[in-house]
Amino acid sequence: MLQPQIKLNAKNEIYVPGDKSISHRTVLFCALSQGKSEIHGFLEGEDPLHTLRCFESMGLSVSSLGKGSYSVVSPGKQNLNSPKGVLDFGNAGTGIRLSAGLLAGLPGMNATLTGDASLCKRPMARIMNPLQEMGASVISVEGNDRAPLRIEGKQLKDYSYVSPIASAQIKSALVLAALASDISIEYKESEVSRDHTENMIRFLGGSITHHSPVHFTVKPPYHFEGTKYVIPGDISSAAFFIVFGLCVGGSEPLLIKNIGLNPSRIGILTVLQNMGGKIEIIAKRVECGEEIGDLLVYPSKLKRTVITEDLIPSIIDEIPILTIAGLFSEGGFQISHAEELRAKESDRIRSMVSNLERLGVKVKEVNDGYEFDEVGTIQNAKIETFMDHRIAMSFAILSKLSGVSLSFDDTSWVDTSFPGFFEILKSV
Ligand code: S3P
Repeated sequence: MLQPQIKLNAKNEIYVPGDKSISHRTVLFCALSQGKSEIHGFLEGEDPLHTLRCFESMGLSVSSLGKGSYSVVSPGKQNLNSPKGVLDFGNAGTGIRLSAGLLAGLPGMNATLTGDASLCKRPMARIMNPLQEMGASVISVEGNDRAPLRIEGKQLKDYSYVSPIASAQIKSALVLAALASDISIEYKESEVSRDHTENMIRFLGGSITHHSPVHFTVKPPYHFEGTKYVIPGDISSAAFFIVFGLCVGGSEPLLIKNIGLNPSRIGILTVLQNMGGKIEIIAKRVECGEEIGDLLVYPSKLKRTVITEDLIPSIIDEIPILTIAGLFSEGGFQISHAEELRAKESDRIRSMVSNLERLGVKVKEVNDGYEFDEVGTIQNAKIETFMDHRIAMSFAILSKLSGVSLSFDDTSWVDTSFPGFFEILKSV
């Protein structure tokens, strides 16, 4: 297995930016809530900023209250206006899919939603089909089930859906459509996907009836009023430094403060602890319906583990950086049941496998994952990021830990989710 070429000689303390999933959702819930809201800890990365700007063009009044803090006034969902231009969601699947759901349920709304080249390759039928069954008019402009999407908002009808994919984006798109149209929705998935949307409904005073952990109904009334949101640090961003703190040499811990620890997001901690990683959670608390804590991460000896299918939704964004941990593990690494990785900002199975091969790692690729045996050495290489922030950050962590010189085609994608990543990496 690879050996770290650097040591932490003193206890380091870092913060990471606000949670991306929650940041997108605060904008959407501000839009659904009459009056003034405040958001603190908002991720000022390109993805959620695109969502904020899109809703500003539909009538939200947004003013900055300082770094990561905004005041947002909504005229109420029925008074949002159709945007004059095309709505651009940049690189953000969450932004476009959740917004498509919300706008589809607003009668009178007319909007076209698009994004960058990566976003326009990602599958949209997964939300278009169930939304159409609810009575929505959502069409793919080019007829290829991809963005751009043209939406004519309609009054939708009560709906019940069993999703073939455990995806919080599908779940949230349909729930937001129901909230916009004041109808009820019953939703069932195969595994629990992240539940920030459900938490926010409860936080705003709405009620959700759970029939099982993966099956619930949400019913009107939805009288949401402006409120104050405080967003924790993003565990998916922290994940890069959790792996760094486990794989680095020395014995000093890395303290990562104020991290969202929603149970549907902490699979990364479970998997790394199963690999032998020592991670302690301290200062646990709850804010705006979300669990939060600080993480103490100790340099640890890692070994290969079996990652079971039920864990996949809760680690779906962390698989690239978990793979890097695998390079420092006894016995190598294997991921399976993860074909959803092919539908992310890039085809993350291909992106990881092709870059590992450039490093000289022998990888076996299958449809739903990949596997490699224990790695001895890696070689200098040029990394292709495929317009994908998590690919860029994963290999940047590898370069720092291993001392191997890696060059990158384009690291600007990092700003979609983690502005300041390279400054923190330099500081630890
Ligand atoms: C997200 C859900 C996940 C995740 C994405 C954010 C969300 O996607 O990969 O980065 O905020 O709902 P899927 O729900 O499609 O798996």
